[in-house]
Amino acid sequence: MTDQMQHITLTSRPSGAPTADNFALETAPIPTPGAGEVLVRVHYMSLDPYMRGRMDDAKSYAAPVPIGGTMEGGGVGEVIASTADGFAVGDMVLGMFGWTTHAVANPSTLRKLDPQIAPVTTALGVLGMPGFTGWHGLMEYGRPKEGETLVVAAATGPVGSMVGQLAKALGLRTVGIAGGAEKCALATDTFGFDACIDHRAHDTARSLRAAIKDAAPTGVDIYFENVGGKVLEAVMPLMNPHGRIPICGMISWYNAGGLGAGADTALSAPALWRPILVNFLSVNGFIISNHWDRFPAFLTEVGPKVQSGEIKVVEDIAQGLENAPKAFMGLLEGKNVGKQIVKLMA
Ligand SMILES: NC(=O)c1ccc[n+]([C@@H]2O[C@H](COP(=O)([O-])OP(=O)(O)OC[C@H]3O[C@@H](n4cnc5c(N)ncnc54)[C@H](OP(=O)(O)O)[C@@H]3O)[C@@H](O)[C@H]2O)c1
Repeated sequence: MTDQMQHITLTSRPSGAPTADNFALETAPIPTPGAGEVLVRVHYMSLDPYMRGRMDDAKSYAAPVPIGGTMEGGGVGEVIASTADGFAVGDMVLGMFGWTTHAVANPSTLRKLDPQIAPVTTALGVLGMPGFTGWHGLMEYGRPKEGETLVVAAATGPVGSMVGQLAKALGLRTVGIAGGAEKCALATDTFGFDACIDHRAHDTARSLRAAIKDAAPTGVDIYFENVGGKVLEAVMPLMNPHGRIPICGMISWYNAGGLGAGADTALSAPALWRPILVNFLSVNGFIISNHWDRFPAFLTEVGPKVQSGEIKVVEDIAQGLENAPKAFMGLLEGKNVGKQIVKLMA
């Protein structure tokens, strides 16, 4: 075994969309675990939209990655050395290892995985943070009721597809919004959405709104907010009285910096606030890391649905740590089809 590892650091902060120049692939000695720690060889790492926020030096719910620091993120890997009680060489674990081939971790930050129950990659997507986000956001803030209509964008991603599938099973009409015909076919044929609208086929919010209106003839009761921008502008006037909007993300603005500091939308403050007032809407922002106490309930409810195939798993697996920046830039542009993961082991 070589004593060198690779990791990807942040070399500069992006202005707008990240570029390859913002990242560097570096080599370092594999660290040695201290007393009570484990050394993990990462097999798969997760790429998630929130990582764009960590690249900015802006006030947010989490600190930015420092310049020269290893990009943050979750991964699954194999314990290759351990001085920790309860963790043995060969155990598969989930942890926040970062964009790296190896990491030392304190066992209190790890979750042991059983590959017999589900493929370990699902711990990064459908049975991990993004799937949990969709479940919690829908059930807690969406408060779905049979016969209602739900709209969600990024409909084929791990959050949107979880929201759509759960809502459909509860008897709602589900309208997905996704980028391109291929993703729309995935949304309806695999994830069971009643309809899917290709946002790229609509240049204006007005045109997108007309398409959503056709697909949601009785109006929208739940708009699960993943993207902001044109989609938000299109949906707001279609909200029904007492509608609910869980605010999960706003990826269309992330490259503007500071989690939405810049807006590329014509949506004015009155056009946003008025429908909330006159339709008595409930709008709830949430960050899933504040809700880990609900994670066991999520696994109990959704784990069997994944095992039985009722909830579908679609993953997009890039190969090699060196390709992580490209895959991440692609994720922000919608090039991923399903949960974006990077495989590090040959
Ligand atoms: N609040 C929380 O704690 C929390 C936790 C996890 C995730 N999130 C948020 O949930 C959202 C979905 O996350 P995910 O992991 O499931 O991501 P994802 O769907 O795998 O990937 C992001 C998707 O966003 C879509 N997108 C990108 N730019 C867009 C634009 N301008 N307009 C419309 N759609 C655009 C693309 O899909 P299309 O090609 O289909 O448009 C892209 O594939 C993100 O906003 C993320 O930040 C929030």
